[in-house]
Amino acid sequence: MEQLPESLPDNPLPLLNEWLKHAKAADVLPNPDAMTLATVSESGAVSARIILCKMLVEEPGYLIFYTNYESPKGIDIGSGSRVAGVFHWDKLDRQVRIEGIAVRSPDDESDAYFATRDKESQIGAWTSVQSQPLGSRQELKDKHVATARKLADLQDESGKTEIPRPPFWGGYRIWIDKVEFWCRGEARLHDRGCWTRSLEASDRGFKVDDWTCTRLQP
Ligand SMILES: Cc1cc2nc3c(=O)[nH]c(=O)nc-3n(C[C@H](O)[C@H](O)[C@H](O)COP(=O)(O)O)c2cc1C
Repeated sequence: MEQLPESLPDNPLPLLNEWLKHAKAADVLPNPDAMTLATVSESGAVSARIILCKMLVEEPGYLIFYTNYESPKGIDIGSGSRVAGVFHWDKLDRQVRIEGIAVRSPDDESDAYFATRDKESQIGAWTSVQSQPLGSRQELKDKHVATARKLADLQDESGKTEIPRPPFWGGYRIWIDKVEFWCRGEARLHDRGCWTRSLEASDRGFKVDDWTCTRLQP
């Protein structure tokens, strides 16, 4: 059975990137970058859903996901709020929990990512008012066709070939201040390591402190 390194590394984020890469390379999971994301509303209601972690930036230490800013999770996060996430790679007997502060990614970063998406996904982002009620599947399909037509007309008029990013869709950076790794151990003696650090708001996001780490009982 696997264990965490005997001496836990000073910075856990390179290890998280290694685990993400390993989960992709193992090729036994359909969505190795899927993470459950929990958010909390202003009134204190907690909700969770799966999102895809598109990148983990080890220094200064945030992960990026993309969504609709006007969705319930987008409204919960607003201009910045605490969130929690869980990666679970069941077939690999591994789990990672993260906590931190989510804030919108810079517009140019979201633009650049949106431009890499295939055309259908781009039209889909414009079409969906995420999580709002829908009369029928047909209504959505009709809206998709109408949106595709409108975007094609806009492109003809402007002569531009790219579909612009919707202003209500983009990335969030989760600035991580707590990470916990778990891997299965024999006789239920699972191995867990937990890292924390503090974040201090600055004009470029957050100033980060060094990590403190500790091993935890299963
Ligand atoms: C495997 C998987 C990956 C998903 N990835 C995303 C994602 O990256 N971004 C997103 O907005 N929704 C994603 N979803 C859909 C969300 O789980 C959720 O249904 C949607 O974002 C609405 O959430 P909300 O109403 O809580 O805002 C994914 C769902 C699954 C099952």
